[in-house]
Amino acid sequence: MSKPLSRPSLLDALAHSAVQRALAAIVKQALPTPCLLVDATAGNGHDTCFLAALAQNSATPQAVQVHSFDVQQAALDATAARLAAQGLGHIAQLHHAGHEQAGQLLPALPLAAAVFNLGYLPSGDKQIVTTPANTLTAVGALLSKLADQGVVSLHYYTGHAGGAAEAKALLAYAATLPAQGWRVVNCHDANRERASEGLVLLEKLPRKAARRATG
Ligand SMILES: C[S@@+](CC[C@H](N)C(=O)[O-])C[C@H]1O[C@@H](n2cnc3c(N)ncnc32)[C@H](O)[C@@H]1O
Repeated sequence: MSKPLSRPSLLDALAHSAVQRALAAIVKQALPTPCLLVDATAGNGHDTCFLAALAQNSATPQAVQVHSFDVQQAALDATAARLAAQGLGHIAQLHHAGHEQAGQLLPALPLAAAVFNLGYLPSGDKQIVTTPANTLTAVGALLSKLADQGVVSLHYYTGHAGGAAEAKALLAYAATLPAQGWRVVNCHDANRERASEGLVLLEKLPRKAARRATG
């Protein structure tokens, strides 16, 4: 949400790499139906473009649908322009809607990965921010659609009003996911107290690995 020194930021690069790994594993499972990649916070479209390029370069591009959500038309316009500039405009479906509606708006297909980049639109209205209630509603809906080995990533920030509370709610929720079904990782700034940020990765374990986790 704050301007990274270089793009993608370290945490966004980690999130992208987790998404890439999840999609590769799921495409290998050769699901009988297409699967979904979701950008839950389109913003300026960087993550949507990453997902669209990933879908386009997938072994079976027609089997990967990309959906992006944002509550701001300005964000969707910026995302559409960025996609078009990269020749990816035909790949992503943009929803002018909050991610809390993802459960109702997404097609009934398995989800390979979803990315959240929380907070406000850089260079936009800083009063329009993601909220704990909407974020957790969306995460719950997306986890229920996640394929085995799928991943949901959440890049959180604590430097803006409400950011620390959102991070706290998210981490509390993530800690409730049972270890026999989920790998939950939190990668957080370890040398900054003010405006620290972090990345939570929620991976759905395939059944065999889930059995191993129970010992
Ligand atoms: C940090 S920006 C996202 C950056 C973006 N992923 C990118 O790659 O440029 C956060 C975005 O979340 C959006 N947002 C806020 N509440 C939302 C909600 N309930 N559903 C979807 N998007 C929301 C804001 O409008 C803002 O554009």
